[in-house]
Amino acid sequence: MILYASPPSSIIFSKRNAPQQATPRTPSPSNCARQSSQEAPNGANPKPLSPFPRLFCHNRCSCICGRRLFIEAAATSLFPLSSSMASSNSSSDYTAILNRVHPPKPDWYEDFYASVLANGMKLYEAEIADYKSQMFATLRGKAQKVLEIGIGAGPNLKYYAGEEGMKVYGVDPNPKMEKYAREAAQNAGLPADNFEFKQAVGEAIPLPDASVDVVVGTLVLCSVSNVDMTLKEVKRVLRPNGLYIFVEHVAAEEGTVLRFVQDVLDPLQQLVSDGCHLTRRTGQSISEAGFSNVDLNMASFSNAAFINPQVFGVAHR
Ligand SMILES: C[S@@+](CC[C@H](N)C(=O)[O-])C[C@H]1O[C@@H](n2cnc3c(N)ncnc32)[C@H](O)[C@@H]1O
Repeated sequence: MILYASPPSSIIFSKRNAPQQATPRTPSPSNCARQSSQEAPNGANPKPLSPFPRLFCHNRCSCICGRRLFIEAAATSLFPLSSSMASSNSSSDYTAILNRVHPPKPDWYEDFYASVLANGMKLYEAEIADYKSQMFATLRGKAQKVLEIGIGAGPNLKYYAGEEGMKVYGVDPNPKMEKYAREAAQNAGLPADNFEFKQAVGEAIPLPDASVDVVVGTLVLCSVSNVDMTLKEVKRVLRPNGLYIFVEHVAAEEGTVLRFVQDVLDPLQQLVSDGCHLTRRTGQSISEAGFSNVDLNMASFSNAAFINPQVFGVAHR
């Protein structure tokens, strides 16, 4: 991403069985702070995270953030979309939602952003490779149809797209991602006919209900307009017991220097990185989305600078 830069040092957090705040709360600004602390590895001793551990699991967390509710309520009234709209309609509806959620940008911007993603993430991808290898290993032999939302330049395809007979749908609103994603699919050994690029958004996925075995999404819920609606769509297109494999960057803990930097840079990041938000509590959103089981881990990566910490794991439909 455009605003990546190396931080002074690499800090990697790990936490097993992180405490959940299970008591429902009245929305208040202080709850926001507490919820954010939960997203970040509160009080965890920074220590090397290797090999890939199962850090903590959430089935549900009822902590509620007033600010988030307020923003979502405002967004819903300004932007009246529902997932039923997305799931029940024709391709023209998907296109209408695409254009509303992610209005077309100048060609040069889409070209530039696609090329930055294709060429500017190599150090980060190298650093996260072991984590991804182990996460995508859970998919082996279990997936014939895979959907990747916000596929970008296709950095994940090499981990899963080599299996015989696999069909991969790559969804992304930026049409300039297609050539990079196709190339990545080809390099991963996926026959050209088995890869389909769909220009669309996560909020309205142009696939039928229960039609895929696995949904993959990495560094994408930071960029969608509506996180909850996207997660609803992920669940809708997944078959029962299907898997959702994710890596997402989230807000750092309140009161830290990193969080201050994120708060300051957030508006600029949205502008230059195609709507990417730095301070979302996406781990919380995934935990609360109604998956039957969520295995959610957290780590920080030195090559991701302020795009830290990151949550990653596997959720079961
Ligand atoms: C930071 S990039 C990540 C790309 C890729 N998943 C990766 O890990 O490198 C975010 C991607 O999300 C896409 N995107 C933006 N808004 C989206 C939306 N509403 N639904 C789905 N994808 C979206 C962007 O075009 C971009 O390809």
